[in-house]
Amino acid sequence: MTLPERVKIVEVGPRDGLQNEKTILPHYVKIDLINRLSESGLSYIEASSFVSPKAIPQLGDAKIVLDEITRKSGVTYAALVPNIKGLENALDMSPTPNPPPLQGGRIKVGGLEEVAIFTAASETFCQKNINASIDESFIRFAPVMELAKAHNIRVRGYVSCVAGCPYEGKINPERVAEISARLMDIGCYEVSLGDTIGVGTPHQIELIIHHVAKFIDMPHIALHMHNTYGQALANIYAGLQMGIATIDSSVGGLGGCPYAKGASGNVATEDLVYMLNGLGIETGVNLESIIKTAWFIAECLGRQPDSKVAHALNPLTVIPAKAGTLT
Ligand code: HMG
Ligand code: MG
Repeated sequence: MTLPERVKIVEVGPRDGLQNEKTILPHYVKIDLINRLSESGLSYIEASSFVSPKAIPQLGDAKIVLDEITRKSGVTYAALVPNIKGLENALDMSPTPNPPPLQGGRIKVGGLEEVAIFTAASETFCQKNINASIDESFIRFAPVMELAKAHNIRVRGYVSCVAGCPYEGKINPERVAEISARLMDIGCYEVSLGDTIGVGTPHQIELIIHHVAKFIDMPHIALHMHNTYGQALANIYAGLQMGIATIDSSVGGLGGCPYAKGASGNVATEDLVYMLNGLGIETGVNLESIIKTAWFIAECLGRQPDSKVAHALNPLTVIPAKAGTLT
């Protein structure tokens, strides 16, 4: 068994996490969250979504958030786009060429390095989520890929419902592989396999990866494991053993999808980092800093982080302070 020496963590908390919250946070809290995440050593942050604000009002301020974050060099800031309108809206952010470096190696500039498109392995989920069939989703992606290429923007692809669908139940892993291959064929550089409702178990995830890997090399496959049934870490470990080295996670275990009722958050970034630290796998992420950020955002949402590690290493038990004074 060989495990990767290093894992790239794709932090999806500000997008996947906040899209499903009843509370619509003000843009400055989101900006603060993203800045804290970049300070913790994460190198990839999915910051928001350029989707219909009628569908996801929680992220209706994507433009201002992407414009106002303090960009740290070496960090990729990405956003979800479902169609050409989403990418056009994202591009409106007029990136400044050659921005002046600020103190601490930071740069402040609008713009976007990368976007993610998303479809599903389940027809019904795809229809409910983006009001399109799977084939129609690919028709929408064609102009997105063209415009992204023209602007030198890399595109990541998601396949939802890889292990099960809230409407259709079981999903054939061969179907997952076929949709994943289509995303690579149209120009995505990586495909993230989404267990949207967190029903998968390790052997099932292995089987899915096995089928996808017939079409896509392992370095271009990522896992996006929601933790509804508490299986996310076990599923990720199964993936690591097969050579997967890119894992999506969400600070404080935030997350879900409004079109997948009952699904809980992604694997918590702090739980993932703790496990990877224990396995001797490098991530570049500071665990303590992520835990503090998990408590920060949970407090902003009026609850506690949905993560074992954030509770086991609760900074409030180490730093004698009231929740409100966490910095
Ligand atoms: P539609 O109704 O088919 O779109 O929605 P349309 O083209 O017919 O346009 C309808 C209206 O939406 C128009 O406005 C458009 O301008 C507007 P109106 O004329 O009525 O005022 N519109 C937009 N506005 C802003 N940004 C856009 C945009 N496109 C159209 N990009 C659409 C299609 C995809 C837009 C809609 O269904 C939508 O926004 N859905 C949101 C889906 C979503 O964000 N789901 C959660 C993310 S996916 C996820 O969480 C899974 C993942 O985490 C992996 C996993 O866990 O499995 C990635
Ligand atoms: Mg998700």
